[in-house]
This record gives sequence, structure tokens and C-alpha cells, in this order.
Amino acid sequence: MTALMEKTLMGQTMVAPAHIPVLVEETIKALSVQPGGRYIDCTLGGGGHAAAILERSSPGGQLLGIDADPKAIESAMERLAAYDSITLVNDNFVNLEAICYKYDFVPVHGILFDLGLSSLQLGGDDRGFSFQERAPLDMRFSPDQEMTAGDIVNTYPEAELAHLIRTYGEETYSRPIARRIVQERPINNTLELARIVERAVGGRKGKKIHPATKTFQALRILVNNELGNLELALKQAVNLLGYEGRLVVISYHSLEDRIVKQFMQKEAKDCICPPNVPTCVCGHTASLRLINKRVIVPSETEIENNPRSRSAKLRAAERIMNEDEHFNLVERLGSSPEVKEHGNGWRRPTLLKMLRTAFDAV
Ligand SMILES: C[S@@+](CC[C@H](N)C(=O)[O-])C[C@H]1O[C@@H](n2cnc3c(N)ncnc32)[C@H](O)[C@@H]1O
Repeated sequence: MTALMEKTLMGQTMVAPAHIPVLVEETIKALSVQPGGRYIDCTLGGGGHAAAILERSSPGGQLLGIDADPKAIESAMERLAAYDSITLVNDNFVNLEAICYKYDFVPVHGILFDLGLSSLQLGGDDRGFSFQERAPLDMRFSPDQEMTAGDIVNTYPEAELAHLIRTYGEETYSRPIARRIVQERPINNTLELARIVERAVGGRKGKKIHPATKTFQALRILVNNELGNLELALKQAVNLLGYEGRLVVISYHSLEDRIVKQFMQKEAKDCICPPNVPTCVCGHTASLRLINKRVIVPSETEIENNPRSRSAKLRAAERIMNEDEHFNLVERLGSSPEVKEHGNGWRRPTLLKMLRTAFDAV
């Protein structure tokens, strides 16, 4: 595929930039991609990361790719046409476990979430994600979703709008923006909304980013329930990882990154009782080991080549298992005679080695 994807709209040829995947080498390393491995890309987009995973897991690698956006699936299908062992699913990653069981894709060696939007969506003329182009206020990842950004800006009470823009946009001027939105309703497209926000905050002067950036972010997060879905999907991802399987998440704003960081930190602890509780009562056991204690960010060269990568943050963790989980996995992988024979002996190093062998053979 070339660097540009052509789209024809009303006789005109429009050009939407192809998505350049972010932190590719870092992702492959963090996922510890191995030949013959089985991987899930929960945010397929244009298929850039997926292609790199398939390349590096060859021979024998398998990939399950998910995207809520049917257009992303179409574009990834084109890009990944050369690979046999792929399954592409148009669904929301909030249904991750159900999808994997449906396609018998459990356990896996690695799971990737590359959150947010692809350039195909940002550059799309009809999606409403960008304040640079006139488009209906849509912002849905999938046309099956009911609520659009237009529904929110044109119907929400002022106080709720202000709360939304402050919470999901981390916008200081949420109140004047909400007031102006309500005064200027109905708002019909992205450019109208961007101008209203700009006027509400007193223009662009002295601002590092476009004044509408945070309001658009807030609307997009709510329309797609991005934070709620992420929390639910991360929990499911842990259940799908096999022994020493890797979870890798790339996020693009602080709200997402906070969820990922807190989730991984919590799952890396054996006890999550408050510090004032003298003896552990939570019964929590660690399910992850942090791979990178410090977040991984793009190099200056990558940011120069792909400015959209500038806010990316990568976090990675490895699946660890407690004794019950080992037993469950032994049972699940029970077709291996070796595991059956030694599974109950609890000679930990031997069992771990066997689990690894059995898992690799699945
Ligand atoms: C940053 S792009 C991924 C780009 C991809 N890694 C690549 O290399 O081309 C994020 C993609 O995730 C999808 N997405 C976001 N949230 C989703 C969700 N909850 N379920 C499924 N797909 C989602 C978006 O539709 C978008 O295509």
C-alpha cells in the first residue's frame, strides 16, 4: 500500500493520509513477538502494527485483529492481504473475551491496544473527528452506535456539557465553552463547533494547541465510552494471556494513560489493601509483572517524522500466575500428557517449564 489512500467523493478525488504506526519496534519488543506466536491486535486501524507482528511472528504466527470501525477493517484487510493466518473482526474490544472464545483464540502470547484514532479516521471527510474540516458532528467509531457528538452538543444541559468538557477534555474553560454552545444551538458541523469554542475562549492567540482540541477530545471519549471500555477490556485481556504472555498498551492522552498505569500497577501487586490495614484482607494476587517501570515514548526522530506520535506512551506487562491459575491452565491445556502427568506435583520450575511448552504447542 502507498503512503496515501485515495477516496472518491462526489466525483472529486480526496486524499486521506495512511496511518503511520507509532512505536513499532518498541511494540514488537514489548510484546516479545516470537515465530509461531499468537497475538491479538485490539485496535487494528490501518493494520500497521498487525503487519509488523505478522512479519516477526513468521513462520507460523497467528493474528486476531479487532476494530469497531468497519472502514478500518476494510483498509487493514487490504494491507494484510498477503498473510494467511489472520482473523479480522469488526467489533468493539469491550467484547474481547467473547470474541476470542468465539474464534477459539485462547490463550495468546500477546495483546496490543493502540488506543485512539487512526489517520484514516482523522482525515475522513464524514467522521467528524477533526476540527480542521467541515463534517457532521458524528465521532462514532462504529455506525452501529446510537449517540453522536451532535446529539450531545445539541441536547445536553449546560451544566452537564461543562462537566463533560472539564472531565474528559481536562479543559479549564469548560464553563464559557458550554455556555456558548448552548447559546448558539443548533450546531450543525465540526467547523461551526470549532469556531464557537474558539470564540468562547477568546481566540487562538497565545494558545499552544487549537482551542477546540480538548472539547473535541471530550466529545469523542463520551460518544465512544472510551475510558469505560478500556477498563473493561484490560481486565479481559489479562484472562486471555497465556503463561508469560505480554500486554502492551499505547495511549495518547493522560486520562487513558492513567487508567493503564493504575491497572498495571494494581495487577502487579499481591495485596491491594489500604496502607492502614495491618494484615491483608483483600486476597488479591498479582497477575502481571511490569516490563517497563518507566513509560516508553517516541524518539525525537519519530516525532519529527510522524508528529501524531508526539503524545504516545507505551506501557507493557507480562502475565504471571498464582497456583490456582496454574491449575486452571494445566486443566485447559490438559491435552498435553506431560502437563497431565506432572501438573499436580507443584515442583514449580518443572511445572512452569511444562506450561510454557504446552502453551507454545497450542
Ligand atoms: C490508533 S488507531 C490504531 C492504528 C493501528 N495500530 C495501525 O497500526 O494502523 C486506533 C484504532 O482503534 C479503534 N478503536 C478504538 N477504540 C476501539 C474499541 N473500543 N473497540 C474496537 N476498536 C477501537 C479505532 O477505530 C482505530 O481504528
